This record gives sequence, structure tokens and C-alpha cells, in this order.
Amino acid sequence: MQIWGGHPLQGHVKISGAKNSALVLMAGALLCSEDCRIRNVPMLADVERMSQVLLALGVGVKRDGEVLDINAKDFATSKAPYELVTQLRASFFAIGSILARLGVAQMPLPGGCAIGARPVDLHVRGLQAMGAEVQIEHGICNAYVPGSNRRLKGAKIYLDSPSVGATETLMMAATLADGETLIENAAREPEVVDLANFCKSMGAKIQGAGTSTITIVGVEKLHSTDYTVIPDRIEAGTFLTAGAITRSDLLLSPVVPEHLLPVIAKLREMGVPIIEEGTNSLRIKPADALKAADIETLPHPGFPTDMQAPFMSLMAVADGDSLINETVFENRLRHASELNRLGADIRVKGNIAFIRGVPVLSGAPVIGSDLRAAAALVVAGLAASGLTTIKGLQFLDRGYDRLDLKLLSVGAKIKRVSEAETEADETAPYLAPK
Ligand code: EPU
Repeated sequence: MQIWGGHPLQGHVKISGAKNSALVLMAGALLCSEDCRIRNVPMLADVERMSQVLLALGVGVKRDGEVLDINAKDFATSKAPYELVTQLRASFFAIGSILARLGVAQMPLPGGCAIGARPVDLHVRGLQAMGAEVQIEHGICNAYVPGSNRRLKGAKIYLDSPSVGATETLMMAATLADGETLIENAAREPEVVDLANFCKSMGAKIQGAGTSTITIVGVEKLHSTDYTVIPDRIEAGTFLTAGAITRSDLLLSPVVPEHLLPVIAKLREMGVPIIEEGTNSLRIKPADALKAADIETLPHPGFPTDMQAPFMSLMAVADGDSLINETVFENRLRHASELNRLGADIRVKGNIAFIRGVPVLSGAPVIGSDLRAAAALVVAGLAASGLTTIKGLQFLDRGYDRLDLKLLSVGAKIKRVSEAETEADETAPYLAPK
């Protein structure tokens, strides 16, 4: 991706459906033996991969634009394909719904962005509490439910930490279990609430999603649904940082402002005017000056770890010293060194980044190390003088729906090029003039 930075953006950006909701709703559709229609599904490589996982399980999947039809009536395969599951973390969460439906599941340990160890112990312990026998061997998590009816049993589960994925896995598993399940210290992220609402739209009995205690009373079966995914708060947040760093006037919709409270509060603290227009739009106006600020990432409703990298780009050009404490993942500050290539002044010690604001960034070739790191480099590139070339687009395409085209439509000078073209550009300055 080539970006010629330093140009303000203007106009309207349509925010897509939430990646982390859509993916887990697709896993949730396995709970239902009738037609499930999911709307507002973003165009992402991860959605495509998750569709491949479902197809490999024998599930019917049909996509028409942003509408995804899933039918898991005849699915009988409990073994998910290694090559696909190791590419995205959300596919592992389907262990909950596969086990609930079939009483047996073989799930390779998950992949996803390399931002920390990302174990699955909380998922496993919760399923064991519900009566599953679980063993991890040769990289595969083998789970089955003993007993003649192969049905999981409701249980009281306390999560050591409010893991989003573990909450979702266990909520799905409990939906068809025998009796009542209580998940305590549950994750409160909007995507957890969206999954609960999706399951409820199919007849599941779930209470308390969005709080730390979720109660699920198992039902015999779920019925057909037609459900719309919530807007992607991280995509919206990324556009807000892009608007802030380029001093732009942007209108974003649809959004749920409540999902973005910590992001909006931090931007306002940094001096960026954000206005709520109607119930589902946010307008960002050019800031007079960007003030330094500190961030500690936390589970929702704290500041989201997924917004940490784009905010680092913003802090890199703020007036004064900022500090980021990444508490959710242990290896999620790798974009700092790439931002330094663009002229930022960032030091990292453990999980803390010290950012000394500089007046300007200057374009350079950089590489995104994970999804949000790549997004942070795009944000920085939009503000940097001259040309920034970003590699690592395979990460960006996992989680941003046509980011380059959306930026182009609001005036960014941005272009996707082939590897060969970027190499020509990189060597160009060193060639002797003819
Ligand atoms: N953890 C454990 N054991 C577990 C599960 C998690 O120790 O069994 C730890 C993790 O290692 C991590 C912390 O708990 O340190 C939080 O992890 P969590 O389980 O909440 O994250 P996740 O479910 O793996 C989802 C999103 C991430 C997002 C996090 C936190 C999906 C597919 N992914 O991951 O999204 O950062 O929640 O909000 O929903 C992204 O979109 O770029 C992304 C990485």
C-alpha cells in the first residue's frame, strides 16, 4: 500500500459490520439446525476463511454481498481442518457450538495475530466444568461429552480473567446444555452482547450479557433467524484516529457511540472535537492542537487493546510525552519500531511504550506485524510527509473491509500496488540520475 501523506480527508465513511462479531456469529450458527441469515457481514479474508471452516464441517454457506446464509442442519463432522483453524483464532471458538450440537469436537489449537501466547485454558476448563472430557494432543483439542445423551451439563464457571473468546465459547456451549450455566467474571465486550442477542433471536435463554455475570438456561434446540451484525467499533475508531491525525472533517456511520466511549473520551482529552450526530453517526472535526495523553488497555468498558496501535500513531505527533501500558496482550507493541522508521520517538520497555511527540513524520517503507499494527502504519502514513509504503497487507485484509477504497473515497492519496512496483519505488532514489 502506498500512501502520500499530509492531505486532510473529508466526507462520509460507511462503517462495516464488526469482524469479531460476524466471525463468532458464524460459529454460533452451528447451534441451529435451521436456516440462519446473518446481515451486515464485512468483506474480510477472515470471514472467507471462517466460511471455509464451516464448509469443511459439512455446513451450507452461501454469501450474497453482505448477507450470509448458513444452514447447519446436516452437519455431522466434528473435526475442523488444521490449515484453516490455525489461521484465525475465532474458528477455535466453534468448539463450544460443535460440542453442544454433536457431543464431540476435534479442534486444532488456534492461530490469529501473533500478539502474545494466547492460550485456550479458560475455554477448556469451562467446557470441563460442563462435563466434557478434554485432552490436548498433537496440537489438537479433543473434546467429547460422556453419557448416553451426549449433552453438556449446566455449571457455575468463574473465569480467571474476562476472556472474550472463552465467554463466547462457553455461552454457545451452554445454549444447548442441560440446565443452567452461570459464567462469572464474563467479558462485557459489545461482541459478546451481539452473540447473546443472535442466540436469543434463535430462541436461546440468555441473561446478563454485557455484565460480568451471564446466565444461560439450556434449551432443546434453536430455530431459524435473520440477524444483523453490529457496526465495527474498531474500524470506526481507526477512522477516528485517521481523521484526528490528518486534522480532517469526517462523518462516520453507522456506529454505536456507546461502544466507542473510551475511544471518544481519549480523543476529546487529546483535543479532538467529536460530535454525536443523531443516534448512529459521529463527526470528527480538525483539532487545533493534539495533546499528549496516557492509555492503559483493559477489558471492556476500559480502553480497547485493538485501538492501542492506531492511538500510538496519533500520540507520535501529539504535543508532549504520552505513555501506553498494554495490559491485555504481552507482545503487542511491535509497531513502535516501525513508527520510529517514520520519524516517531518511541521507546518500549516491557509492556510500556514511552512516546515523545514529534512535530512531523516522514514517509518510509514499513511492515505491519499484525492487523492493528498494520492499521496504525496506515494512520501514520496518512500524516507523514511524502511516500509511505506499507507491507503486511495480508494482516490488514483480515480485519478491515476495503480500507484503502474507503480512505480513497474521502480524499486520501492511497494506492495498492504489486510487490514489484514497490521494489522499483524503493530503489529509485538510489539510482544515478540519467
Ligand atoms: N487468555 C488466557 N486464556 C484463555 C483465553 C485468553 O490466558 O483461555 C488471555 C489471553 O492470552 C490474553 C487475554 O486473556 O492475554 C485476553 O484474551 P481474550 O480471550 O479476551 O481475547 P480473544 O478472545 O483471543 C478477542 C478478539 C481480539 C481482541 C481481544 C480482546 C476475536 C476473534 N478476537 O480475542 O481481537 O484483541 O478479544 O478484546 O474476537 C483483533 O481484532 O485484532 C483482535 C486481536
